[in-house]
Amino acid sequence: MTSIVQNQWYVAAYGREIGRELFSRTICGESILFWRTEAGQVTAMSDRCVHRRFPLSEKPSHLNGDTVVCGYHGFTYGADGVCVAVPGQKRVPRTARLKSYPVVEQDSFVWVFIGDPDEAESTRIPRAPWLDQEGWTVVSGMEPLKARASLLIDNLMDLSHETYLHGGYIGTPEVAETPITTEVDEDAGIVYVSRHMADAECPPFYSTSTGIQGRITRWQDIEYTPPCLYKLHSRIAPVGVLPNEDGTDPDAFHVEVVYAITPETENSTHDFWAVARDFALDDESVSDFLRENNRTVVLQDVTALDVLEQVLTGEPDGYQELSINIDTGGLAARRLIAAMAAEGAGTTVEQPAAATAP
Ligand code: FES
Ligand SMILES: [Fe+2]
Repeated sequence: MTSIVQNQWYVAAYGREIGRELFSRTICGESILFWRTEAGQVTAMSDRCVHRRFPLSEKPSHLNGDTVVCGYHGFTYGADGVCVAVPGQKRVPRTARLKSYPVVEQDSFVWVFIGDPDEAESTRIPRAPWLDQEGWTVVSGMEPLKARASLLIDNLMDLSHETYLHGGYIGTPEVAETPITTEVDEDAGIVYVSRHMADAECPPFYSTSTGIQGRITRWQDIEYTPPCLYKLHSRIAPVGVLPNEDGTDPDAFHVEVVYAITPETENSTHDFWAVARDFALDDESVSDFLRENNRTVVLQDVTALDVLEQVLTGEPDGYQELSINIDTGGLAARRLIAAMAAEGAGTTVEQPAAATAP
């Protein structure tokens, strides 16, 4: 049985990746074919022909208007995955249909529902509005990770690693030194982790992009909506500059760092990353810098997590971890995901005990 949480929405792609070319990506272990109809609607269906399993993304399979024609023997499917023509006979077998997936395009992402399609409508899709909103400029990408999704979740929930793994980019001593607060909204199913640094060194990622010279007030407010969407609300300001009482914050720089954590298989992950900023909106050099810098940071994580996956795969199950205060966010995330997995599998297992760090 899969350990991947079922009956949830996952980010499958950026909208820009899907057009009038057949596009295939494995999401949660399922090979899915994506394409846009002539009207511009994204469709998602199994990437395996029902006849002999030929991948519909593989040439010479092709689109013909709003149908996809299998390149092996010509089975032809509509945008809903239903077969509309087969070679050599008029009658199309009633069961000739591809599994089709609910799909929603939102906040620059294409979301696909994995599990029972009847559950799709009543299941939330978390939002990341800055990725497609006036007043924000975004750079984004996706890196393949040869490691299970839970390792990336652990990584993102505990930013103390920035000091060590990302020194010279986004890490400074204050990140690891400053304690965090962790809160869980059980009803909404969201984990919040905050670290507010009052007087910190400004790492190159922010000094170069904002132009701030000298020390900063740096806030990191994580909001993780399991299983897929992670947001880091980052606030950077000259040291001592705080938001106004009415909540306005004109003298700070705001960066929304968004990750979508989508399992490809049990042991590999699509690591979607995006950085939205509310300053230097039209400055291409800032965009280029943030794109390159963030990608480098993501690849530092990818390298470390790929190693970790190899280590874990090679060791017997049941090893003992040792958790400390910095891990409270990650442990809370694991607890929510375990509960979601039990629900998605239709089982009523006991809630795992609240994870606490010593
Ligand atoms: S495998 Fe697709 S038509 Fe035969
Ligand atoms: Fe990292």
